Amino acid sequence: MARTSQKTRRAKAGRGRPWVVANFATTWDGRISTRNRTPSDFSSPEDKRRFLEIRAESDAVLVSFATVAADTMTMGMPDAGLRAARVARGQGEYPLRVILSGSGLVDAGLRLFGENFSQVVVYSTERMPEAVRSGLRGRAEVRLGEGSRVLPEFVLRSLGEEFGVKRVAFEGGGTLFWDFLKAGCVDELCLTLCPLVFGGKEGVTLTGTGLCYLPASVKASLRGLERVGDECFTRWRLRFSSVDGEFKEKGDSSVDSPEKEA
Ligand SMILES: NC(=O)c1ccc[n+]([C@@H]2O[C@H](COP(=O)([O-])OP(=O)(O)OC[C@H]3O[C@@H](n4cnc5c(N)ncnc54)[C@H](OP(=O)(O)O)[C@@H]3O)[C@@H](O)[C@H]2O)c1
Repeated sequence: MARTSQKTRRAKAGRGRPWVVANFATTWDGRISTRNRTPSDFSSPEDKRRFLEIRAESDAVLVSFATVAADTMTMGMPDAGLRAARVARGQGEYPLRVILSGSGLVDAGLRLFGENFSQVVVYSTERMPEAVRSGLRGRAEVRLGEGSRVLPEFVLRSLGEEFGVKRVAFEGGGTLFWDFLKAGCVDELCLTLCPLVFGGKEGVTLTGTGLCYLPASVKASLRGLERVGDECFTRWRLRFSSVDGEFKEKGDSSVDSPEKEA
């Protein structure tokens, strides 16, 4: 089990980080889940297919432990065609599975840890209880950083340097997305707008519940728009405020963005 200083690793890292594509479905009122955090199952079969396609393009899929538990995810690739296409592109059949938890209260008994189709990496902090650390032994690689939360930059650099990840599918949830936005660690957002409204103030929004404002607004350029049935699939390139007051794209220039590939 590796204990690594997040700051040391950040200082040592000379290269950029992997490309990060976030993928969410929201209601009209910007909810990604209900107040009871029920599994996010409100989008169409077409959206679920697209969700898998975006996951299939990536070397790693990254989710909070809270969402893994809420949605009983195994973070797999059930479609044989998508798996074959990955292999043809020179990728592994399944993406690396990456889980984040600040508290480290990870249930090693979850189904995900029993499915060994691809490696699982858990990023947490020194707060992770010893019992959890030993429970995860042999089931997942564990990387522990300092402080109470895991720094997104630390995770992405580690994924790039240790695991050769160039592209990450970020799958939530909202609170973790807020952290990644705050750190300027999201490059694209694939957002499906679904034709329903949950109402109320307690449903989970795209940036979680009851969180502080971001230090600065995040802007975006629309790069794709497609209507499928009553849903609207959008693809955005994110821009973050910089010291000169301009909004700029981030990400690693050594990683090919879809715009470059087009
Ligand atoms: N519609 C969609 O597309 C979609 C997508 C994803 C999720 N969801 C839904 O969203 C709900 C969950 O969203 P949520 O906002 O409540 O929670 P979340 O973002 O999934 O998880 C929040 C938890 O993640 C951990 N965390 C947050 N930032 C962290 C960091 N920087 N480092 C390490 N751990 C960190 C913390 O828990 P600990 O420290 O205790 O681990 C925190 O309480 C679920 O109902 C799920 O079904 C919907």
